[in-house]
Amino acid sequence: MPVTERAPMSVIGKAQPRVDGPLKVSGKALYTSDHQFPGMVYAVPVCSTIAKGQIQRIDTSAAEKMPGVHAIFHRGTIGTLSRAVVNHEFGADMVRLDEKRAPLEDDVIRYHGQYVALAVADTFEQATAAADAVKVTYYEQKPNVDAHLAPETNQKVESERGDPAKAYGEAEIQVDQTYDLPPETHNPIELHASVAQWDGTTFTLHETSQGVVNHRNVLAQMLGVPKEHVRVITKFMGSGFGGKLWPWTQSALAAAAARQLGRPVKLVISRRMMFQSAGHRPRIQQRMRLSATRDGKLTSLRQDWVNHTSILDDYKENCGEATAHMYSVPNLRITSALARRNVGSATSMRGPGAVPGLWATESAMDELALKLGIDPIQLRLINEPAIDEGLKIPFSSRHLKECLSTGAEKFGWSRRNPKVGSMKRDELTLGWGMAACSWIAARFACAATVELRDDGTARVSCATQDIGTGTYTILAQLAGERLGLPLDKVEALLGDTLLPPGPLSGGSGATAAMVPAVLKAAGKAVDSLLALASSARDSKFAGSNASDLEYTNGRVHTKGEPASSGIAFEDILRLGSVSAVSGAGSSEGRGAFGTKKPMFSSHSFGAQFVEVTWQPEIARLRVSRVVTVIDAGRILNPLAGRNQIEGAVVMGIGMSLFEETSYDPRNGAPINSNLADYIVAANADVPALEVHFVEYPDTKLNELGARGIGEIGLAGMAAAVANAVYHATGVRVRELPIKIEDLLT
Ligand code: MOS
Repeated sequence: MPVTERAPMSVIGKAQPRVDGPLKVSGKALYTSDHQFPGMVYAVPVCSTIAKGQIQRIDTSAAEKMPGVHAIFHRGTIGTLSRAVVNHEFGADMVRLDEKRAPLEDDVIRYHGQYVALAVADTFEQATAAADAVKVTYYEQKPNVDAHLAPETNQKVESERGDPAKAYGEAEIQVDQTYDLPPETHNPIELHASVAQWDGTTFTLHETSQGVVNHRNVLAQMLGVPKEHVRVITKFMGSGFGGKLWPWTQSALAAAAARQLGRPVKLVISRRMMFQSAGHRPRIQQRMRLSATRDGKLTSLRQDWVNHTSILDDYKENCGEATAHMYSVPNLRITSALARRNVGSATSMRGPGAVPGLWATESAMDELALKLGIDPIQLRLINEPAIDEGLKIPFSSRHLKECLSTGAEKFGWSRRNPKVGSMKRDELTLGWGMAACSWIAARFACAATVELRDDGTARVSCATQDIGTGTYTILAQLAGERLGLPLDKVEALLGDTLLPPGPLSGGSGATAAMVPAVLKAAGKAVDSLLALASSARDSKFAGSNASDLEYTNGRVHTKGEPASSGIAFEDILRLGSVSAVSGAGSSEGRGAFGTKKPMFSSHSFGAQFVEVTWQPEIARLRVSRVVTVIDAGRILNPLAGRNQIEGAVVMGIGMSLFEETSYDPRNGAPINSNLADYIVAANADVPALEVHFVEYPDTKLNELGARGIGEIGLAGMAAAVANAVYHATGVRVRELPIKIEDLLT
């Protein structure tokens, strides 16, 4: 049943402005690097200037004598830092990071910008000058940052069914093409920062973390202390895009320096360091082979990808994540392989796996549609599966067909003339392209507490994070909905490991995780309130059974009586001489991030329609219109939801046309490591964006039927743009980003 046919809720599903908005726009929100503590000193890392080799000597003598300098730490002086033992948990005990080598662990250099020492001084300027004055000599070897990726590990079969080689060989229509994606670097405006304090027993770490619980667990192991002795705090974040999901080496360095010096240490990495040592989406090459019958039925699909990875870490970009369930095809094979390069560790970047995967599969589907002479939407409808054919289980809720038809209608697809270069407007050549998209819908394990307080407010707590997506607001909405309270009566707390362990802000899994835990916690707080009402001596309900009482919109009353006949909860609390009642709730992970074998295949789906304008005379290409239709279950907050999709579409324009990290083959350095040379989409690149949701609550995932929406909006963009570019120009671009020089024919 679409959500419009259901009973309306009071707080959920409403366009609620951010509850943290006033703090942010008034400058009162303290971001990690805003924190100042008495006696605090500044740390600046010294970065290797080679990408492969060994440290010969570190000469700190000049730097140590410079004004304000407290210490120049290196491998011999930083103290013990251990590796964390990574596990496969996704809950309170999870331990995960991508660069597993502890910083300064050995003298081997494996990528450009690897930290080799740390200068600490009274001011940031003094520490920067001291870091520059550290003289490091190396035994240098030639690094490998080669852009051509031949598989270096054994190909691993990720999913397989039928006999794709045979079906392909026998098919009338075949597509065999390779699609390339360059390394992309997350560029949130807020740089990675760590402000570390140590009191002799306990570390308090202000961090830029998309997962404070995991960050705490990892740092406890690296620092060699019990995890109860590490507190991690991230109250506000200037975005992360996955770059801040896992701890990076600057965090352990800041904490170790704080321990050595007995002072608070602030370490904010530079934009250049962000390109070197804080993750990136790896370079990926994907060979796609598709075959079909004349009338468009897929007979085989193969996807073989290679992604680059660092020398020590095995980061696999799971490009086949969406492939096995996207279309009905009896014969399929998906393989992965790695190629080692002298680069920092790759990591998750918005929509890891599926986003690059769909760039390839949705481009190949467009090429297949052209060969068949079938409309690309029609080709997708012909191959709509009844179940997830990869896992052989039903979908929890899949409305891709409706996304395609709604998108086609909103975009005006029926007016499309498929002939290349045939559509014009105002002397511009138009290109119209589309792609389907998908992203995992899962939920993490989550715990939360909800309190009702004697000042008439409620407080909801969960150690998750708000990375700019609106999690504070969603937390407050969930508690407010269950308690019947307006949002200005609900205080939301997050971003602190002292709170009940909450989910990562990643995988679009936080919202779905919070729903059951917060609703349960709020329900328990109400139970506790009703028990108090029936037992408080001066309550008019004293002596009645708690089960005869009911809680409605902040008031306790007798069942069957109107709420107005009852007593406000804060008065019940005062009558009972208590300051607050509280309830705790928790829920297990489900789907891809849970531990159980899923009974349903849970994914969000969508369709993206792109118009480009092309001026061959001056070689100007612009994205001029984007319509996105998303099937992500119930949308808890249409304002924040739309905002997530729009942001992802903007990122998709950047992914399609601009984003590419370039490595210098001589020294392995990411050479465009700044916001002038690494181009992201800016306002001038972004046309009017249309976003529509088809709202079918996915109650297999949680009781409200909400799935995550952080990543899906990026998932079809690159292919939709490339498909539109082909329609305008007749040039099929298979290597991102699409460059003007590709189109000069
Ligand atoms: Mo997202 S890459 O899971 O932050």
